[in-house]
Amino acid sequence: MKTRLTERLGIAHPVIQAPMAFAAGGALAKAVSKAGALGMIGGGYGDAAWIEEQFAVASGGRIGCGFITWALAEKPELLDQAIELGAAAIFLSFGDPAPFAEKVRLADVPLICQIQTLRDARRAIEVGADVIVAQGAEAGGHGETRGTMALVPEIADEIARAGSAAVLCAAGGIADGRGLAASLMLGADGVVVGTRFWAAAEALAHPKIVAAALSADGDATLRTRVVDIVREIKWSERYSGRVLSNAFIQRWHGHENQLVRGIKVEAASWVRAQESGDTTIAAPFVGEAIGLVHDAPGAEDIVYSIVTSSRKLLACFDNVEA
Ligand SMILES: Cc1cc2nc3c(=O)[nH]c(=O)nc-3n(C[C@H](O)[C@H](O)[C@H](O)COP(=O)(O)O)c2cc1C
Repeated sequence: MKTRLTERLGIAHPVIQAPMAFAAGGALAKAVSKAGALGMIGGGYGDAAWIEEQFAVASGGRIGCGFITWALAEKPELLDQAIELGAAAIFLSFGDPAPFAEKVRLADVPLICQIQTLRDARRAIEVGADVIVAQGAEAGGHGETRGTMALVPEIADEIARAGSAAVLCAAGGIADGRGLAASLMLGADGVVVGTRFWAAAEALAHPKIVAAALSADGDATLRTRVVDIVREIKWSERYSGRVLSNAFIQRWHGHENQLVRGIKVEAASWVRAQESGDTTIAAPFVGEAIGLVHDAPGAEDIVYSIVTSSRKLLACFDNVEA
């Protein structure tokens, strides 16, 4: 399936697997790339040893690496590491990409910038992003408030107005062929998919937590700061994280100050719950698209299914009289 994105990144299908912190390791990235999409290691908050290990797991695969930009600013040497390890693309989200753009460009590696607002899209154009990812609030993990449906065409218009050569991906709520076909209709050249790949067989999510999420519907997610508070990670007020609700989230969402007061006890129990897969406490970062995810196949099957079904949908338009 050829688009401007496949040409720009040298891939067969216009699908990028989101660089999900703690969930997207080398095995997932390699499987996605093997299927002809672009797999990404989720460099997240930046752990040099883990990143090196995951590149080794993916060895032989053509994969990219993503970073949370404000965290990368605290450990900028990780960008050199990812480039040296042979990252096929660098994916930056949540912060100003400007301090890193030149290094990525000089290394001749495509720069992918994920944005949530028009203002950030203008910044990404300014720094010369090769790919701009317009992320709507339906997305799993961190993000802002705008919905994918109106954000994507508005960013497409802005890229055209600026005369930029950047290509555009949609992200947030895309889990199947319908999402890919719709994104192309909205003016995107491809998609970034997180939640669907979070439940892939190769992802690093806890099997008990994945099993519980497979029976959840999209109504069961919400945007909250509770998970960042309990993990004691200092995110800007701008961003919240979309998670699958559970007893822990219901207890603390709206009562964040109390959670801060009891943080020692709650943080320890959060860590234990992550390790044991206790779904009453450990709330995973997943998006509204979890309501479209009912199984945990291999990543290659996920790529083929998204692409095949979107091809069929798009073929219908050949038969429609204008
Ligand atoms: C489990 C999970 C972890 C994520 N972690 C990151 C991250 O570390 N860095 C990042 O740029 N985006 C992260 N995201 C957001 C994705 O980049 C992407 O915007 C989102 O998954 C797209 O929406 P979807 O989940 O509906 O497919 C994460 C998403 C999920 C589901």
